[in-house]
Amino acid sequence: MCGIMGYVGPQDAGPILVDGLRRLEYRGYDSAGIAVTNGSIHVRKAQGKIVNLEALLKREPLSGSVGIGHTRWATHGAPSDANAHPHTDPTGEFVVVHNGIIENYQSLKDQLAAAGAVFTSETDTEVLAHIIAREYDGDLVEAVRSTVAVCEGAYAMVVMSKKEPGKIVAVRKISPLVVGLGDGETYLASDIPAVLHRTRDFMIIEDDEMVIVTSEGATVKTIEGTEIDREVLHIDWDSARAEKGGYDHFMLKEIYEQPSVVTETLAGRLDEDGTVWLEDVAFDDDYVRSLDRVWITACGTAFHAGLIGQEIFRRVLRLPSNVEYAHELRYADPIIGPNELTIAISQSGETADTLAAARQAGESGSRMLAITNVVGSTLSRYADDVLYTRAGPEISVASTKAYMAMLIAQYLLALRLGSARGTVDKELATRIAHGLHRMPAAIEKTLAAEPDTIRAAEEIKDADDVYFIGRGLDYAIAMEGSLKLKEISYLHSEAMPAGELKHGTLALITDGVPVIVILTQRSVYDKTISAVQEVKARGGKIIAVAYDTDEEIAKHADTVLRIPDMPDLLAPVAAVVPLQLLAYHVARMRGHDIDQPRNLAKSVTVE
Ligand code: M6R
Repeated sequence: MCGIMGYVGPQDAGPILVDGLRRLEYRGYDSAGIAVTNGSIHVRKAQGKIVNLEALLKREPLSGSVGIGHTRWATHGAPSDANAHPHTDPTGEFVVVHNGIIENYQSLKDQLAAAGAVFTSETDTEVLAHIIAREYDGDLVEAVRSTVAVCEGAYAMVVMSKKEPGKIVAVRKISPLVVGLGDGETYLASDIPAVLHRTRDFMIIEDDEMVIVTSEGATVKTIEGTEIDREVLHIDWDSARAEKGGYDHFMLKEIYEQPSVVTETLAGRLDEDGTVWLEDVAFDDDYVRSLDRVWITACGTAFHAGLIGQEIFRRVLRLPSNVEYAHELRYADPIIGPNELTIAISQSGETADTLAAARQAGESGSRMLAITNVVGSTLSRYADDVLYTRAGPEISVASTKAYMAMLIAQYLLALRLGSARGTVDKELATRIAHGLHRMPAAIEKTLAAEPDTIRAAEEIKDADDVYFIGRGLDYAIAMEGSLKLKEISYLHSEAMPAGELKHGTLALITDGVPVIVILTQRSVYDKTISAVQEVKARGGKIIAVAYDTDEEIAKHADTVLRIPDMPDLLAPVAAVVPLQLLAYHVARMRGHDIDQPRNLAKSVTVE
C-alpha cells in the first residue's frame, strides 16, 4: 500500500504533489518522492517521512506544471533513497510511480538484465520504467498498454514522459486510483482525501482501466482502448470524514480494506497449484524436513493469529506446534532447540515483549522467522527470514486488517512447509490455493452483511458481560472476537473453548446473557451445539457465526451472522469479519473513541 499523486495544470506541481502526499502519508511513510517535467524530467526523493522530502526540495528546488508523486510502504527492497519512487528509465525520459506489486517482476527484470539493462534500485517499479521506454514508439498510451500486457499483479501505475509533456497516463489493476477535476487543472490520487480541498468532482477509475490526464480533464478507457463515459461524482464529505476515506473511523475503513489486503498479501506468492514463493524466506527443503517443532510467539491480536497458525501447522504439517505469549515465553526458560523454528508475529515489529522472546529463541539456536507488516522494523532486521504481510499502515489501535494479513501469511507458510515435508500433496495444495484466491470475494460477501452485525450489536450493547465460545479454529476466532469487543467497547468479555463452559463459567449464564458462538468446524459441530443448548437452557442469548448453508443453527440461535460456505481450514478468514464489525458497532453505539481506545497504544514498545 502506497500513496500516489499526479497533477497537470497551470500551477507549480511540486507543492501540490507534496501537499497531497502528506494527506496520503497514512498509506505509507518510509520514503517519498516527486518528479516534474519542464522540458526535461526532474526527480527528488528521500527516505523517511515527507518532511525529509520537503527539506530536500528546499535545498534542491524544482519547478514544472506537470508532475507525479509517491509516498512508499516498502514491499520490494528496503526503505532507502534509491528504492524511493519515482523511478526513471536509464535515459531519464520516462518516469513511473506505482502502488501494489508486479508479481512477475523478477522474470521481467532478468530478461531486461540479459539484454543489458542496469538497475539502480531493488524495486519492481524500476522494471516498469525500463519496459515502457523500450516499448515507446511515439505513443505513450500504447507503450503503457504494452507494458501492462506483460505485467502480472495487483497495482496502480502512473507514468509521465518528457516526450509527451502535458500528459499523465495511469492504469488501475485493483489498487485504487481517482481523478480530481479542477478548473483547467486535473489531479490524480490514490484516494479522494488527497485533493478534496482542491476539488469536489471526481472520477473513480475501476479495475483494468486506463486514464489519460491533461489540464483539460481526463479520458477513461479500458486497457484495450475502448473509451468509457465515466460519470463525475460530486463529494460532499467534511474533512475529518475525508481523511478516513469516507468512513467514520479508521477501524471501519481498515475492516473494509481486508479483501484487498488478502489480494496483496497473496500477490506473486501463490500459484494455482499451491506452489508458494516467499521472497525473504531463505531456508531450504532439507531444513524444513529436519524440523521437530514450530514455536509461535506474539502478543494480543498477533497472538490470536498465532493460535490459528498453531492449529493449521498441527493439522497440515502434522508437526508439534506451540503458540506462546511473548511475555510468558521470555521468562519461561523454554527448551527450544536448533531443530525448532520460531515464528514471531508482530504487526509493528516493535513490540518489546515479542522482540525479547524472538531474541531468546534465536539465542537458543532456533531459526527465527518474522511475520510483520513493517519493512525495516526491528523484528524484521533481527529475523533470519521474514514474511511481510502487506496490510499497509494500520492506524486504528484495534487491529483488523493486519490480523487478516497474518492469517494469510501463515496459510502460505503452511503450504511452503507442508510441500517440503510431504504432508501437503498437490491435491490438497491446489484446494487450499483455490480457497485462498477466493477469499477476497468471500470477505466482500461477509462485509455486505454488515446490517446484520448492527442488529446484533443492538442486542448486546447494554450487556454487562459477553462470552465467546468455539472449538479448535473457532476457539481461536472467539479469542480475537472477544479482544476486539473489550478493547473498544469496554464491555467485559471472555472467550473460551466451547467444552470449557460447563466447567465453571456456565454459572454466570443467566437470562439474556449474550453468548457468541462460532460454528465453522464441521468435525466438532455437534459438540459445540451441545454447549449452545447448555446456554439456552439457562436463558442465555445465542448469537452465532455460521456458514450460509447451515440450516441447523437457526433452530438454536437467536441471531445468526452468516459467512459464505468454504473449507473449514480457511473459515477463520471470513469468520472474524462479523466479529470485527460487531465490536465496532457496539463501541459506536456506546459512544467511544474507536480509533484510540482509552489506556491503549498502537505499538507497545515497553515491557
Ligand atoms: O504490533 P504488534 O502486532 O506486535 O502488537 C501486538 C498487540 O499489542 C496488538 O495486537 C494489540 O493487541 C491490538 N491493539 C489488538 O487490537
